[in-house]
Amino acid sequence: MTLVPIARAHLSRVIEIERAVFSRPWTKRDFVLARKRANSLCWVVRVEREVAGYVVGFVIDREFHLENFAIAPCFQHEGLGQKTLEAVFDLLNTKAQVISLEVRMSNCAAIDLYKKMGFETVAIQKAYYTHPCEDALIMLKPLNTRLSDWVSHVFQNNPSLAST
Ligand SMILES: CC(C)(COP(=O)(O)OP(=O)(O)OC[C@H]1O[C@@H](n2cnc3c(N)ncnc32)[C@H](O)[C@@H]1OP(=O)(O)O)[C@@H](O)C(=O)NCCC(=O)NCCS
Repeated sequence: MTLVPIARAHLSRVIEIERAVFSRPWTKRDFVLARKRANSLCWVVRVEREVAGYVVGFVIDREFHLENFAIAPCFQHEGLGQKTLEAVFDLLNTKAQVISLEVRMSNCAAIDLYKKMGFETVAIQKAYYTHPCEDALIMLKPLNTRLSDWVSHVFQNNPSLAST
């Protein structure tokens, strides 16, 4: 597998996967806007010549926020999700110190994968999702740093957080 920047030509397949796996799928416009956003990183997961999945996120202050990630149903359970995240970790090596994400509490497959890849749950966001309404786990994965060092860095740069 390889990660390739998302091009317009990939979008119809990406939307097809998105609709197959999410109860509240992103629209084509959501992907177009994500691609245009400053500091965004958007890849398709390519297996031979096929688009098998995608990863969308953006980097802000040494943090990569994973906004969207999926593997097409016909490519699932073959280790591709894990390989994709490993490739993302490599590509982010010099760009980010931590990866953050939200995930539905009921999404056991994704939560198991994230835990296996070293993500830790740091908070629960109540009623974060709609269709259906559901809480989100907020998970962090440190890259080349310890989670405690990252949290200290965040508090140092945002003194107002310490008093909340
Ligand atoms: C979550 C997702 C990306 C996993 O992709 P995948 O290619 O099937 O995952 P892998 O084959 O690499 O599995 C790696 C690990 O993930 C976990 N996992 C994957 N599918 C699982 C399932 N159905 N139930 C429980 N754990 C699962 C396991 O820990 C697995 O390790 P193991 O094979 O040693 O048990 C895929 O299911 C998906 O795209 N789901 C729909 C979209 C989604 O939920 N995205 C995440 C939004 S936050």
